Amino acid sequence: MSDQRAEARKKIQLLKNLPTLPGMIEQISRAVDSKRFTVADIGNLISRDQVLSAKVLKLANSAFFGFSRKVGSLTQALMLLGFDVVKGLILTSSVFDMMKDRDQGLWEHSMGVATASSLIAQQVDLPDAEEASLAGLLHDLGKVVLRAQMTEDMQSIVELVEVEGMSIRQAEHEVLGFDHSHIGMWLAESWKLPEELMDPIRWHHQPEGARKAPLLTAVVHLADIMVRGYGHGDGGDPWVPELDRGALRLLNLTPQKLERVVDGICEKLVNSGADMPPH
Ligand SMILES: [Fe+2]
Ligand SMILES: [Fe+2]
Repeated sequence: MSDQRAEARKKIQLLKNLPTLPGMIEQISRAVDSKRFTVADIGNLISRDQVLSAKVLKLANSAFFGFSRKVGSLTQALMLLGFDVVKGLILTSSVFDMMKDRDQGLWEHSMGVATASSLIAQQVDLPDAEEASLAGLLHDLGKVVLRAQMTEDMQSIVELVEVEGMSIRQAEHEVLGFDHSHIGMWLAESWKLPEELMDPIRWHHQPEGARKAPLLTAVVHLADIMVRGYGHGDGGDPWVPELDRGALRLLNLTPQKLERVVDGICEKLVNSGADMPPH
């Protein structure tokens, strides 16, 4: 790693207002690992934090998950969504708390990629669609940090996109010497997220770099491109990122499977208002 990057990484991991992994998550993780706790116990743990519980329930009830009946309790949310997703919701809500209303577009983009990732995961040999959804939700974590914490750099980046017509990643490299995928990974490292989640955060634009979770990374890579292609939300520039052929080969989607994904995206994102923010 170059000196410049090493320095930036340190800076990002030390950012004062960066959300640290909420203490709650650590407590819950320990409870889950110990296997002595029931789902209800974990629900009770979360419900001690009222703001957090309200956010989890609001998200669980958003059109994003598409449950036909209302999710009324945290226990129910945990059972329906699984622990990983609830953990992701807690993390995500703390990330998105950093965002103001002006970042609604990025939120919509992230929710869209989460939905598309889960749809693609169901068509390839990826048993855990929940994990795919979480990876999709968090893939552009670095952009959140850039927008919320590195506003001056972000201004220069936006200028390059708008005036020079650069892609957001090109502009990030021009201004910073690295891009949002590095920033996301550095934050994920300091949060000690599982490596399976780090791969799509770091490699969603260069899926050939993924070592631990190449299939999941390919899923998020394609989901990102499809959501950008449909013009859902705001990824930061008007361009659709380039599709990596190796990732497409790895996914091995038949025309029928691809059609199911496209149908799902049209149904959930294009034709419905499934992009409500959790405010
Ligand atoms: Fe990205
Ligand atoms: Fe993205």
